[in-house]
Amino acid sequence: MRCWSRQARARGKTIALVPTMGFLHEGHLSLVRRARKQSDAVVMSIFVNPLQFGPKEDFKVYPRDLKRDRELARREGCDVLFVPPSRQVYPKGFLTRVHVEGLQEGLCGASRPGHFTGVCTVVLKLVNMVEPHVVLFGQKDAQQAVILRRMLRDLNVDVKVVVCPTLRERDGLAMSSRNRYLSDVERKKALAISRSLFAARELVRGGERRAGRIKRKMKETLSRGGITRVEYVAVMDARELVPLSVVRGEVLIAVAARVGKARLIDNLKVRV
Ligand code: PAJ
Repeated sequence: MRCWSRQARARGKTIALVPTMGFLHEGHLSLVRRARKQSDAVVMSIFVNPLQFGPKEDFKVYPRDLKRDRELARREGCDVLFVPPSRQVYPKGFLTRVHVEGLQEGLCGASRPGHFTGVCTVVLKLVNMVEPHVVLFGQKDAQQAVILRRMLRDLNVDVKVVVCPTLRERDGLAMSSRNRYLSDVERKKALAISRSLFAARELVRGGERRAGRIKRKMKETLSRGGITRVEYVAVMDARELVPLSVVRGEVLIAVAARVGKARLIDNLKVRV
C-alpha cells in the first residue's frame, strides 16, 4: 500500500483516503465523490475493525459483502480498494492504543467503552499505511469525526480532515450499514429518530434557545413514534461536545436509540 502511495506522491499526485467498514451505501460513496473532487487518487479502505466492537456487540454479524463493495467502489472511481487482513493490522504482540481524553467518554462512548480507542487506533494506523494528503469522514458519526480530527491534530499527523454531510434516505432515515438489521416495521419506527431531529431544528429556527425544551420535544417525538430504548438525546457545542443549557453558536443535536437489534445514531448541526 505504502509503495503505491509513495509512487503516486513522487509523480506529484494528491491522495485521499476514505476509511470504511464496508457494506457500502450511498453515504460511503458520497465521501468517495467528494474525495475525487479534491484529489488525484482515491483510496478506500474496508476493514471491520475488531478493536472498536465491545465483547457483546455485532462484530461477528456485522454485514459484509466484499464482492458487491468492490464493484461499487470501482464504479465510483476508487483507484485502490485497500482491504488489509486482520492479522496484518493487529499482528501477535500488538499492544498500542490511541485514546483521546475527555471527548470519548460521553455520548456513544458512555455505552460503548473502548469503542473510540479502537476507532482512533485503527484510523491512525490506516493513515500511516496509506499516507494520504486528505482523509474523509461523515458527519453521520459526529462524535467520531470530532475525536478523529482532534487525534490527528494532537499527534501532528500531516493530513487534512474533511467531514462530509450525512446522506439520508428519501424519508429522512440516515443511511447506515446497520439499517440492514431492521424489519419493515422497525424501519418505520426508526424514522422517529430523524423526525425528532427535524423537530428540534424547527424549534431552534422558531426562536427556542432552552436546550431542556428542545430535548423534551425530541423525547416526546421519539416515544410517540414507539421508540422506548433511547440511549441519549443531547444538545451540545459542536466542537467541544459539551452540553449546552442555552443554545448558541454551532450546535450539535444528537440521538442514539435502539430499535430491534440495531443501535442507531443520528444528528443535526444547527447554527444559531
Ligand atoms: P463506517 O460505519 O463504515 O463508515 C465509514 C465512513 O462513512 C465514516 O466516516 C462515516 O461517518 C461515513 N458515513 C456513514 N454513514 C454515512 C451517511 N449516511 N452519510 C455520510 N457519511 C456516512 O465509521 C466507520 O465505518 C469506522 O468507525 C471507521 C472510521 C472506518 C474506523 O473503523
